[in-house]
Amino acid sequence: MKNKRLMAIIALLVVLVVGGIIYSSINDGKITKINNTTKTVKVGVLQYVSHPSLDLIYKGIQEGLAQEGYKGKKIKIDFMNAEGDQSKVATMSKQLVVNNNDVLIGIATPAAQGLASATKDKPVVMGAVTDPAGANLVKDLKQPDGNITGVSDHNPAKQQLNLIKQLTPNVKTIGILYSSSEDNSKTQVEEFTTLAEKAGYKVLPYSVPSTNEIASTMNVMTRKVDAIWIPIDNTIASAFSTVVSSNQTVKKPIYPSATAMVKEGGLGSVVVDQKELGVATGKMTAKILKGAKPANTAVEIFTTGKTVINKKVAAQLGITIPDDVLKKAGQVIE
Ligand code: TRP
Repeated sequence: MKNKRLMAIIALLVVLVVGGIIYSSINDGKITKINNTTKTVKVGVLQYVSHPSLDLIYKGIQEGLAQEGYKGKKIKIDFMNAEGDQSKVATMSKQLVVNNNDVLIGIATPAAQGLASATKDKPVVMGAVTDPAGANLVKDLKQPDGNITGVSDHNPAKQQLNLIKQLTPNVKTIGILYSSSEDNSKTQVEEFTTLAEKAGYKVLPYSVPSTNEIASTMNVMTRKVDAIWIPIDNTIASAFSTVVSSNQTVKKPIYPSATAMVKEGGLGSVVVDQKELGVATGKMTAKILKGAKPANTAVEIFTTGKTVINKKVAAQLGITIPDDVLKKAGQVIE
C-alpha cells in the first residue's frame, strides 16, 4: 500500500518535471520565434526632394539598417518623397506619424523640420542635416534633449575656398547661388562669406525662391562674378542642369558642394561623402530601434572633405589642374 502511494507520488513528480521541461522548451521556442522571424520594425522615411545626393543617402540608410540586422522581413520602410513641395512635407509628415512607424527619418533639412513639427514624442532621425541647431531641430548637438538626433553634413568651406584659390587664382569676385527657403543654406552662406571676405574676395550672394528663378538669376549673376560657389542646397541640386545650361555662354567656373553636382558640370569641390552619411543615418536609426533615446544620443557630424575634380569641365574652361591637386584628389572625373 505504502509502496504504491510512493510510486504514485514519484510518477506524479516525474510527469510534472518532464512536462515542465517540455512546456518551457516549447515556450522558449515561441519566444525565439518572435525575436528572430516574426517581429517587424516600421521605419518611416521622408525625403525632401529627388536629386542624386539625397537618393544616394536613402540607399546608404537602407544599407546601414541592413548592416545592423534590419533587412528582409525584419523591417518595413514606409517611404515618402515630398518632391520639394512644402505642403507635401507637412501632410506626409503627419501621415508618417499616423502610420504608426517606430522611428521616423527626415532626409534633408526641410523634411526633418516637417517631421519635427508633426511629432514631439516619436523618435526622429535627421539624415544629412547641415545645421541642426540653426534649423531649430536640436538645442545641443551633444545632448539633443528632445525626440530628435541624427547625422549632420558640415560643409568644409575653408577647404573649398582653398581649392578656388588653387584652381582659379585670378578670381576676385565670387557669386553665391542658393535657395532662400532652406535654413541649411543660410548658415553655409554666412560661414562661406565670412571666410571668403577675410581671404580678400568680394562676395555677391544671390538667393532664389524656387527652381523657376535659377535661369534668370544666373543670367544676371554670371556677368558680375568671376566664379560661382554653391552650398549644400536642395533646390539648386534638384535643378543643377539649369545652372549648367545657363552658364553655357559665359562659362564661369562653378564650385558646388557635392560630388553629383561636380559630375553634372561643376569644376570641382571638397565634399562630404553622401553614401557614408546615409549609412551612418541607418546605423543611428538601428540604435534607436534597439532602445537608445534621441535625447541623449549625440548628433554625428561629418566634416572631412574629399577633393573632387571634373577634368572635362576644366578643359572646357581652359584651366590646368595643378599636379599636386590631382594627386591628392579623392575623385577625378575624366
Ligand atoms: N544637407 C542638406 C540639408 O540639410 C541635404 C543634402 C545632403 C544635400 N546632401 C546634399 C543638398 C547634396 C544638396 C546636395 O538639407
